[in-house]
Amino acid sequence: MSYYVTTPIYYVNAEPHLGHAYSTIAADILARHMRQRGEDVFFLTGTDEHGEPVAQAAQKLGVEPRELVDLNAPKFKELLPQINVSNDFFIRTSDPQHEAKVQEIVQLVHDNGYVYEGTYEGWYCPRCADFKTELELGPGHTCPIHKITLEREREDNWFFKLSAFQEQLERLYSERPDFVRPQARFNEALSFIRGGLEDVSLSRPKLTWGVRLPWDPEQVMYVWFDALLNYVTALSYAREGADLTDRFWPAFHIIGKDILKFHAVYWPAFLMAAGYEVPKGMFIHGYLLMEGHKMSKSLGNVLDPFEVIERFGADALRYYCFREVSFGQDGSVSAAGFEARYDSELANEYGNLASRTLAMIDRFRDGRVPEADPDPDLVSGAGGLAGVEAAVCGLLDRAELTQALEEIWKRVRRLNRYVEETRPWDLAKDEGEANRLDQVLYNLAEGLRVTTVLLSAYMPETGDRMLDALGVDRREITAFGSDGGGQSIEKLPPLFPKIETAAA
Ligand code: MSP
Repeated sequence: MSYYVTTPIYYVNAEPHLGHAYSTIAADILARHMRQRGEDVFFLTGTDEHGEPVAQAAQKLGVEPRELVDLNAPKFKELLPQINVSNDFFIRTSDPQHEAKVQEIVQLVHDNGYVYEGTYEGWYCPRCADFKTELELGPGHTCPIHKITLEREREDNWFFKLSAFQEQLERLYSERPDFVRPQARFNEALSFIRGGLEDVSLSRPKLTWGVRLPWDPEQVMYVWFDALLNYVTALSYAREGADLTDRFWPAFHIIGKDILKFHAVYWPAFLMAAGYEVPKGMFIHGYLLMEGHKMSKSLGNVLDPFEVIERFGADALRYYCFREVSFGQDGSVSAAGFEARYDSELANEYGNLASRTLAMIDRFRDGRVPEADPDPDLVSGAGGLAGVEAAVCGLLDRAELTQALEEIWKRVRRLNRYVEETRPWDLAKDEGEANRLDQVLYNLAEGLRVTTVLLSAYMPETGDRMLDALGVDRREITAFGSDGGGQSIEKLPPLFPKIETAAA
């Protein structure tokens, strides 16, 4: 089966921050997990380089937009290996192939009769690149997101007949109750649709930084349609000489809650208008907050992912983001929060389980994992290892990243309790308990393998180091007890060394 997952493409008017990394890591976890399940995966991310947000930023700096995007896009691209992200392609909407394909698709929408010329009059936020309805406005005609006073715009431009898709969108939502998740976002999108769809601008006459409309080169395409189309255009040129569209489309989108309307309403309608299948689905995440506010460049409360990685490692950052904040909700992150989870969960729970298991196999069995059977005590009961892989797969099918991680972590805790219950160090003192000790050590190694294989999607570097030390080559997700033991282990330095807190 093919699995195509995407991130939003990022505006290059600012430097990347943890809020951006968050969407990308979420999609990466899904991509890695699906690869481990043997799916044919394509994972796309990239940058959104046209429109007002970028044109205005360039103007402020006194440079051409092209200069600004060429300076900033690489920063987003360079972040990816640093956060252990395994994307299959990086799209830039200034790629000529993207632009050509956008023109081809918008021409289709035009030829299918969904485009007309009209006059737009209303409110526009240049930072969101969004035409706001009266209902969406904040007090005093402000942008509810950016809190800036909006200008009333009047311009002649081309419109997309969104209103023509009222019925089809309502039908889509009634037939596919999992099209948008979590449920609250589905409801939000549906009520927007039920509120009655108005046609939306497809082009902007005053802007020159964008993709020109093929039938009216005086106008550039409204940046949101240009941007949304990246999900489709990338497949046509990501691999030279191959068009991957039939192989991978439709996609599963990961996005933040601020861009719900574009993805859950405009995008499926635009795809219908062009004759493409609608997305497979989308998961809408909340905001990472610092001191209660959305982390953003303009508010100046960003947590620099580069600094965090330097101090804690990328895997710890990836783990923390999805453990601390329930995926789909808003939640606060902080340096103190990072340190607390790093110490208590990564170092003390997982790290300790790993080091004790390896040390005991080394000491009591000369570094060879005994061959034995699963211990019924560990298989069933609270936190039992049976079925953990199925539970995690089921949750990740629905992109429930935090719940899936919790399922894994319950087993990490269960394994630590198992060590305390069975006291292998006492068993080792008694010759008559040799078989029992074999069983306990095998179960610990096998439990560590199963949990680590599942954790690898979240913490790929850690997963590789741990599985290599356990003498496990395969990364496939398999059930507890499906590896029989017998392999040799290797030494492993602490996975999560204690961090030195800066001297007071
Ligand atoms: N360019 C558009 C998306 C076009 S997709 C066809 C855009 N770019 S953005 O750079 O402003 O935001 C990209 C994503 O980052 C959004 O999903 C947004 O929700 C996410 N985040 C930005 N700050 C965030 C937090 N503080 N927390 C979580 N995610 C946030 O919108």
